[in-house]
Amino acid sequence: MSAFLSHLDQQLKALKAKRLWRQRAISRPLPNAHIERNGQVLLNFAGNDYLGLSQHPALKQLQAQDVAGATASPLICGHHAQAQALEQDLADWSGFEASRLFVSGYQASLGVIPALVGTGDTIFCDRLNHASLIDASRLSGARLRVYPHRDMARLDDLLSRPTTGFKLVISDSLFSMDGTIAPLDELIALCERHDALLYLDDAHGLGILGENGRGAPEHFQLKATQRQRLIYLGTFGKAAGQGGAFIACSHSLADWLTQSARSYVYSTGLAPAHCASLLACLQLIKQAQAQRTLLTEHIQTLQTLSRNLPWRLAPSKTPVQSLLIGEVEPTLQLSETLLQKGIWAPAIRPPTVPRHQARLRISLSAAHRHQDIEQLVQALHEAAHSLR
Ligand SMILES: Cc1ncc(COP(=O)(O)O)c(C=O)c1O
Repeated sequence: MSAFLSHLDQQLKALKAKRLWRQRAISRPLPNAHIERNGQVLLNFAGNDYLGLSQHPALKQLQAQDVAGATASPLICGHHAQAQALEQDLADWSGFEASRLFVSGYQASLGVIPALVGTGDTIFCDRLNHASLIDASRLSGARLRVYPHRDMARLDDLLSRPTTGFKLVISDSLFSMDGTIAPLDELIALCERHDALLYLDDAHGLGILGENGRGAPEHFQLKATQRQRLIYLGTFGKAAGQGGAFIACSHSLADWLTQSARSYVYSTGLAPAHCASLLACLQLIKQAQAQRTLLTEHIQTLQTLSRNLPWRLAPSKTPVQSLLIGEVEPTLQLSETLLQKGIWAPAIRPPTVPRHQARLRISLSAAHRHQDIEQLVQALHEAAHSLR
């Protein structure tokens, strides 16, 4: 067994031995400062509903649907049956043993990465990783090793060097500014070879990659044994069109995160009403095959139509299409010219992307129509002419 995983198991055992291990109850706030906790109705002295507003009659619509009120940290007041159902549904759908909900992807990474590694350990980061992963890595106190974008030979080399402590590889799956996809199969193989764990941020892949939109693990057809090393981040702020996030992983990793991911332990859980809407949204994503097909058509249309533009689209088969301009000033001018024509495609500048790589980030959606893409490319041609 992986030394890293057995170390986390031992940490869990130590917490249990010291009676510091936390479990979450299923709970529901009730009127008059009561709470239902694992089926038992109790007088509640644990919540933070100081003014009693969670059960105010003005919110009776939410109460009628049994989704009123937030209940403090899930470790103190438990979590709602809607949250429990969402966690289960997400774990089953994404193909992992368990999941945990977070208020956002940023918060998930800030909590989870420092819960896995710290001083004396080493993080291996793709150079183009999202800012939240970089911030979380810094917060952890672990040593940081950065490898060039998707360069597996370099990562292998860095992982081979003698280090103390544990190794965590961190990568976006679908890179948000380039539309490239991390080679997940190779990343997992390297993690197996060097006894590392992999934290994969699939914010842009969930709902998009894989035959059924189950994200990068489905796209790369990962086996159950490979998933044991994976800590998977999915967010609801992209293809799901809402907000919030989840971590999917093995039971024991999820249990460890419940004890130690500080943004989970010390933050109010996702509101029950939000969980209910995410449950509904998950059903929609599962059935969004037609939208995924349409999106693929749009990607092909944009790539075909933009062949004669004076700028190059970064190679990407994903909805993230970057038109590479280079310097900041012409990129801003191009974005401004499109704006005057009623089109919003923002200029992305350093430090979000490297110097001399300013670009227009064109984000495609199944909500676009074919003629919308034609309109965009026509506007780009006109802009190219007028900016010459
Ligand atoms: C790759 C990636 N990871 C994480 C996040 C953060 O997710 P959230 O918006 O849920 O905090 C984003 C958001 O822009 C992202 O692009």
